[in-house]
Amino acid sequence: MARRPVIAGNWKMHNLQADAIALTNGLMAELKAEDKAALPEVVIAPTFTALYAANKALTDCGCGKVKLAAQNCYFETKGAFTGECSVEMLKDAGCEYIIIGHSERREYFGETDEMVNKKAKAILANGLIPIICCGESLEQREAGVTDYHIASQITKALIGLTAEEVAKSIIAYEPIWAIGTGKTCDSIEANRVIAMIRNTVKGLYDANTADAIRILYGGSVKPETIKEQMAQSDIDGALVGGASLKADSFAQIVKGAM
Ligand code: PGA
Repeated sequence: MARRPVIAGNWKMHNLQADAIALTNGLMAELKAEDKAALPEVVIAPTFTALYAANKALTDCGCGKVKLAAQNCYFETKGAFTGECSVEMLKDAGCEYIIIGHSERREYFGETDEMVNKKAKAILANGLIPIICCGESLEQREAGVTDYHIASQITKALIGLTAEEVAKSIIAYEPIWAIGTGKTCDSIEANRVIAMIRNTVKGLYDANTADAIRILYGGSVKPETIKEQMAQSDIDGALVGGASLKADSFAQIVKGAM
């Protein structure tokens, strides 16, 4: 089955509203000449405070080539949870995707596998698509526990989800040592881990579900690396940090996935 590629830009804690509008408009100008049907699914993930501005820029353009994601959510629907945003609120702000379990959230904000699982359920229950991140640290890689760790993160993230829900979801494999370091994971190795994730999904569900789920690579993806990454059998796209902050480099990555 042909899986539609996904290129998602994780802006992290960057961009005021004016920057978000400029970057969104810049990206759309770069993609203007491209045929929408030929493009991968293009997603941008601004901070909460820039979601409205980015969504307005996308809506005003009306080309439908770029979709909106949030970088986090809370799994409860409403209530006394100071500082949090529910999935329904993010949907209301224009989001169609939500990134969960990013290593920075796990490391700095105590996000656990159990929370990732609850968030995935809440996102899917609202009709949005979770982008579920996983990845090993350098210590884990050197200790030879990469596959065990990743399979465990994925298994726990998917607890209680139906095959249909999993088929719609997106996983991002992001080795922590490759994030923001300029040190991209070798494409063959990234593909090996991603194929292992797909096989884990097959074991938990079935071959059709494993075949349908999109699994991205993330960690220092650049315009120069995307073609080789996309040429691999199991890599379905990229979650891009640093290189998504400039319209031209992000657009080059998008075009590299066509
Ligand atoms: P990077 O970040 O592309 O800057 O390495 C990727 C990510 O953390 O999603």
